[in-house]
Amino acid sequence: MLTTLARQELSGISGGRVRFDEPLRLHTSFRIGGPAEAWVEPQDIEELNTVLSFAQAADVPVTMIGGGANLLVRDAGIPGVVVSLSALVFRRLTRDGTAVTVGAGVGLDRIVAMTRDAGLGGCEFLTGIPGKLGGAVCMNAGTRDGEGGFRAMSDVVTWVTVLRRTGAMSVLSAADVGFQYRCSGLNGDVILEATLQLIPRPSEEIARNIAALMAYKRATQDLSAPSAGCIFKNPRGGPTHLPDEHPSAGWLIDRAGLKGLRVGNAMVSPRHANFIVNLGSAKASDVLALISAIQYKVLQEHGLFLDLEVQVLPA
Ligand code: EPU
Repeated sequence: MLTTLARQELSGISGGRVRFDEPLRLHTSFRIGGPAEAWVEPQDIEELNTVLSFAQAADVPVTMIGGGANLLVRDAGIPGVVVSLSALVFRRLTRDGTAVTVGAGVGLDRIVAMTRDAGLGGCEFLTGIPGKLGGAVCMNAGTRDGEGGFRAMSDVVTWVTVLRRTGAMSVLSAADVGFQYRCSGLNGDVILEATLQLIPRPSEEIARNIAALMAYKRATQDLSAPSAGCIFKNPRGGPTHLPDEHPSAGWLIDRAGLKGLRVGNAMVSPRHANFIVNLGSAKASDVLALISAIQYKVLQEHGLFLDLEVQVLPA
């Protein structure tokens, strides 16, 4: 809890731009979530550093939020300071030959468009993902199929600049980032920017790849209602009676007959079973109850426990 004094101090640090009790449903693709106790958008790295030091001294938690595309924020909201790197200084995108350096606050749609126009292939897999660079690196965002083997951030990222909670800046090589399927080892650090190594490819070909990926998403996924994309990770391996060595979570949930299952205004999408859609004012508690019901039924039917891909905050 921020004391009155701490609130005043934070207002001073952020030039009065701090917002208290900011509804986080306004900042998540799910359109779900209670308030951030304090919402801060630092204008530069110095202000970001000051906010981090303040939080450490005041012993309040700091939570970084990117595009809010893969998040389920609990109904009680997030205590302490929630930081969004949406100021101009964190939204730079520069090109150097076949490499692009992208700020944490850059939207993935902008990266896709910029690299297409520059004739640089490799980012097509980001098509239609409504996140930002920082979150995409942290979660190792990706898809099942990407052009020419580029399927996830780990396939394109070469360097990541982070701000440690100690205030020190570090440039990490991709190997030090600790990328795994839909996660990285960067949870404690603030991602400032990343360099992506791409390959020359005609813009028209990239545009065709993007159109094909978007058409596949439109045909298979539920883009009509607010959601957080896929709720569960696809399990690795599994029982041998299943047709595929790596069955997708959507297939497993579908075969368990759960499409259309509803708790309050949260529903398993009838279109893609690994999507939970918000039919309007759904609560995080509705989604969490639905998640438990799905995990229970899939475990019963298929003998597999589905791990969450979506990040629940607070954890
Ligand atoms: N399937 C069903 N029923 C369903 C959904 C899927 O039978 O309700 C079957 C499909 O017919 C297909 C298989 O499951 O044979 C795989 O489905 P899909 O091609 O839709 O891929 P996915 O594994 O469900 C992954 C990513 C998506 C990404 C797509 C397309 C994960 C968890 N999901 O989905 O990413 O967009 O591939 O590349 O890796 C996300 O991570 O939020 C996300 C949406």
